[in-house]
Amino acid sequence: MAVKNYILVCGGTACESAKGDDIYKALLKEAEAHGVADDVQIVKTGCFGFCEKGPIVKVLPEQAFYVEVVPEDAKEIISETIVKGRIVERIQYQPEKGAKGEAFDIENIEFYQKQYRIVLRNCGLINPENIDEYIARDGYSALEKCLFEMKPDDIIEELKKSGLRGRGGAGFPTWMKWNFTKQVDGGQKYVVCNADEGDPGAYMDRSTLEGDPHSVLEAMIIAGICVGADYGAIYIRAEYPLAIERLETAMKQAREYGLLGNDILGSGFNFDIELRLGAGAFVCGEETALLASIEGKRGMPIPKPPFPAVKGLFRKPTVINNVETFANIPIIITKGGDWFAQIGTEKSKGTKVFALTGKIKNSGLVEVPMGTTLREIVFDIGGGIRGGKKFKAVQTGGPSGGVITEEFLDTPIDFDNLVSIGSMMGSGGMIVMDEDDCIVDVTKFYLEFCVEESCGKCAPCRIGTKKLYEYLDRFTKGKGQIEDIQKMKDIGNAMKKASLCGLGQTAANPVLSTLRYFPEEYRQHIEDGKCIAGKCKDLVHYEIVTEKCIGCTVCARKCPVNCIEGERKKPHVIDQTKCIKCGACYEGCKFDAIIVS
Ligand SMILES: Cc1cc2nc3c(=O)[nH]c(=O)nc-3n(C[C@H](O)[C@H](O)[C@H](O)COP(=O)(O)O)c2cc1C
Ligand code: SF4
Ligand code: SF4
Ligand code: SF4
Ligand code: FES
Repeated sequence: MAVKNYILVCGGTACESAKGDDIYKALLKEAEAHGVADDVQIVKTGCFGFCEKGPIVKVLPEQAFYVEVVPEDAKEIISETIVKGRIVERIQYQPEKGAKGEAFDIENIEFYQKQYRIVLRNCGLINPENIDEYIARDGYSALEKCLFEMKPDDIIEELKKSGLRGRGGAGFPTWMKWNFTKQVDGGQKYVVCNADEGDPGAYMDRSTLEGDPHSVLEAMIIAGICVGADYGAIYIRAEYPLAIERLETAMKQAREYGLLGNDILGSGFNFDIELRLGAGAFVCGEETALLASIEGKRGMPIPKPPFPAVKGLFRKPTVINNVETFANIPIIITKGGDWFAQIGTEKSKGTKVFALTGKIKNSGLVEVPMGTTLREIVFDIGGGIRGGKKFKAVQTGGPSGGVITEEFLDTPIDFDNLVSIGSMMGSGGMIVMDEDDCIVDVTKFYLEFCVEESCGKCAPCRIGTKKLYEYLDRFTKGKGQIEDIQKMKDIGNAMKKASLCGLGQTAANPVLSTLRYFPEEYRQHIEDGKCIAGKCKDLVHYEIVTEKCIGCTVCARKCPVNCIEGERKKPHVIDQTKCIKCGACYEGCKFDAIIVS
């Protein structure tokens, strides 16, 4: 019997951890209880992208887009929407502008309007644990084409036409990489997928694997056909259990369907894939370190050349690409390189997925055509800054990137433009900062990360990251000297030139970029001993303004160390000797009676 309705329940990590599975089970139970179990198909999908409003439940064909759903809503979703065809307004997404309570398709939700979902084409739409749903969306048709209609050179040609550049950070043309490996004569070759994703704040690759694992498997098999490899490995961090589970399910189903393993679709071509779990070291995302880790050695980079394309895993020619790079490939093959090349900018084709986080209203996973401006991402898609605060900067590219200030918000985003304004695309982490963020403190966070993650093999990185961190730490304590700034620039530039791998070569970028755009904020920390954002604890001082305090006692109750005293309805006082500068009183006072100085 044909089903009348589909209920799509977000099964991405964020929604799952907010009781997504309970919502799914409650919907199944209620459908049964209302006698409509045969009329409705309830599907657990990957991330919808709009994680800020999760857990999300979408009902088709009614186009109900339910947000912040709890398991208790299941009853009403079934009894109202499924049984009576009515939208439950209480949980229906409410736009800031436009009609309330109307039906919603992706097209009329502001968050999605400027997006273009190529990599995430199936996320939020299909059940990632059911290969039939992937096949129903054209899945594995690119593989079929590559096996029976195209020659390896045709695949390279299509990738060349597409202009696809690697999404793991450096933006190297994918066709060139594949071509290097293809050109090596015969012998054992490998295909490796880099799913290490170590950048703080980034979760694009995890979501792609959770929501559409087959797209990556299909692309890896295509890479195998193209370069002449029969074995692939996906290197994924062990902290991604849901992605691992879905990949395992997908590989099992693909093998059962004859799409993976020996004699794929009766073509005589063999290709199999294994998962290799990483322990979560950032440097293991660097390709040579990653390959060493797969080989069972300690994950440390080695000098290049030779590049992995020629001497990679076990010193054999190896194609290594990022998850997002791979996810683009099947659709490039089915729709053609020319189609893909129409999207994006002159030198950066296609789209880019960003993990939009920080002080933004709509945090989530955003896929936009290259060339979209940061202003569009932050204000149109992201909805602007939370709590009416002022925009300060966007950090892109994680520890390898830098900050972008207001004056560059209209820069069209692509690999080259971001580098020209002192940042970089990186893997796609995008952290929005407001006036309450301290630029020195944020920079210190990235350097602390690099100090911890440096493998220590080479001195410029091992010592340089530590020295930069120490300077920043002193600034946040009001103990810096203005001459330190030049020393930091010198160290940073030396690290760029002399470090062995990308970690050390880029670790100084956050320092150099923030020094360039926020020199005044550094000067204030060093010369005035002042942190205008109130983040550097050693430089801030919380005080109660007697005239404004009405004695409501809220601050005294919030203070974790009981250092605020005062009678009810009388002005309160902070005992400065005991204050640990946690800011709880400041955030709790509704009368602006507490000032940070
Ligand atoms: C310290 C460091 C960490 C990296 N981490 C990742 C990562 O987590 N995922 C990734 O795809 N690339 C990462 N890269 C880039 C890889 O070395 C490599 O360039 C990439 O996997 C190539 O794939 P692509 O051509 O598809 O971008 C990292 C590089 C460095 C220097
Ligand atoms: S640059 Fe840093 S992470 Fe890279 S090899 Fe040198 S010490 Fe290790
Ligand atoms: S919360 Fe504000 S108004 Fe209330 S007692 Fe504290 S300082 Fe005074
Ligand atoms: S900053 Fe924290 S510790 Fe200090 S007075 Fe306020 S609540 Fe208490
Ligand atoms: S995890 Fe549900 S919308 Fe992202």
